[in-house]
Amino acid sequence: MPRVLNAIVAVCPDRGIGNKGNLPWHPIRLSKEFAHFRKMTATPSVKGKQNVVIMGKKTWYSIPEKNRPLSNRINIVLSRECKVPPAGAHYLASDFSSALRLIDTELADQADQVWVIGGSSLYKEMMGSTGMRRLFVTQILKQFECDTFLPEISLDKYRLLPEFPDVPQELQEENGIQYRFKVYESIQE
Ligand SMILES: NC(=O)c1ccc[n+]([C@@H]2O[C@H](COP(=O)([O-])OP(=O)(O)OC[C@H]3O[C@@H](n4cnc5c(N)ncnc54)[C@H](OP(=O)(O)O)[C@@H]3O)[C@@H](O)[C@H]2O)c1
Repeated sequence: MPRVLNAIVAVCPDRGIGNKGNLPWHPIRLSKEFAHFRKMTATPSVKGKQNVVIMGKKTWYSIPEKNRPLSNRINIVLSRECKVPPAGAHYLASDFSSALRLIDTELADQADQVWVIGGSSLYKEMMGSTGMRRLFVTQILKQFECDTFLPEISLDKYRLLPEFPDVPQELQEENGIQYRFKVYESIQE
């Protein structure tokens, strides 16, 4: 059966996702938002397997060193330049399709869900790829300065789901910042 691809991202109103190598709201911490990220990406649907997180090199280095690799998940870092995985990363892939191939071959027995966790070009490639895709978007309702952006989610290609298991529907607030969790699913052609 073809694999579902998931992406998870937190975005400002202008679709900004990062600034100067960090989250736009840094140094403010959104702990409950981070817990949501961890729960969604680290919880496999099959006992005994692990989910996979795929990320670009800058996203890898944006994770504090003490939190790398992301625990209980197989961490794949994408880079065209690196010859070996960055210290702590489990696997290196030279492009997105190589990462997916690695998951379907060498990692097939141990890998469960696949989660794309950034950055910009990787989200774009995942969102434009074929097959079933889900986008788990945290809509941050406050604008911060941003230099890295999420491509527009085309409502011709994605529909907003009315609800999704384990995703709270009510308005969230931490440190004076309000946000909402949204889930989009690709419309099958
Ligand atoms: N708000 C959120 O949810 C969220 C999520 C993730 C990241 N971020 C933020 O976004 C920023 C980082 O994202 P970014 O877009 O600047 O960078 P990025 O995609 O994380 O990393 C870019 C680098 O990754 C490698 N890469 C990316 N796509 C690749 C591909 N398809 N094939 C091979 N290599 C690939 C390349 O490395 P080489 O140059 O080595 O080839 C590229 O220079 C940070 O500010 C971070 O905090 C925010």
